[in-house]
Amino acid sequence: MCKLCWGLLLVLLLFVAAGAYKFIVQGSVTPSSDERTAILLSDGERNLVLTEMRDFLLSVQQITRAAVKDDMQAVAQAAHRVGRAAQGEVPLTLVAKLPMGFKKLGFETHGKFDQLALDAEQLGDRDHILEQMAALMDNCVGCHAGFKLVTE
Ligand code: HEC
Repeated sequence: MCKLCWGLLLVLLLFVAAGAYKFIVQGSVTPSSDERTAILLSDGERNLVLTEMRDFLLSVQQITRAAVKDDMQAVAQAAHRVGRAAQGEVPLTLVAKLPMGFKKLGFETHGKFDQLALDAEQLGDRDHILEQMAALMDNCVGCHAGFKLVTE
């Protein structure tokens, strides 16, 4: 291949790498006045994320209530609602705007709800469920301390 072709190929690869970095790692972010990273979303995208958040809170409440009654079937159901399967509804255009740290924590949180559902069904041990809830909620607290959502 000619030198120019190699040069062009290199430039192209750099563009692809920069694009991948932007979409996969960095996301659409901006600094904010309260030290959290602000994620820039459209109004509809912000509503979608916040709806998912209220679902998280609802499940936390339902799990706590079911655990008080020692109803492990209801614990499993409430946890499963917000497991990994619930993530399928997030469009790729929105995923591309989320920074890596946010995606990682979000993905992990859905996974922890799935694990909790499985353990509630298979072990049926309330103390274990409460321990899992406490650990899972570290994710809620951690992410809220680091990120906020603002509209474009
Ligand atoms: C991956 C990051 C992340 C995780 C994990 C996370 N949240 Fe959030 N949550 C956010 C962000 C960002 C906001 C918007 C905060 C802002 O803009 O000030 C939010 C907002 C909320 C809101 C407000 C919803 C509204 O309508 O305004 C609730 C309730 C909430 N989260 C509950 C939870 C609960 C419960 C958990 C854990 C089970 C959780 N979140 C886990 C990032 C996260």
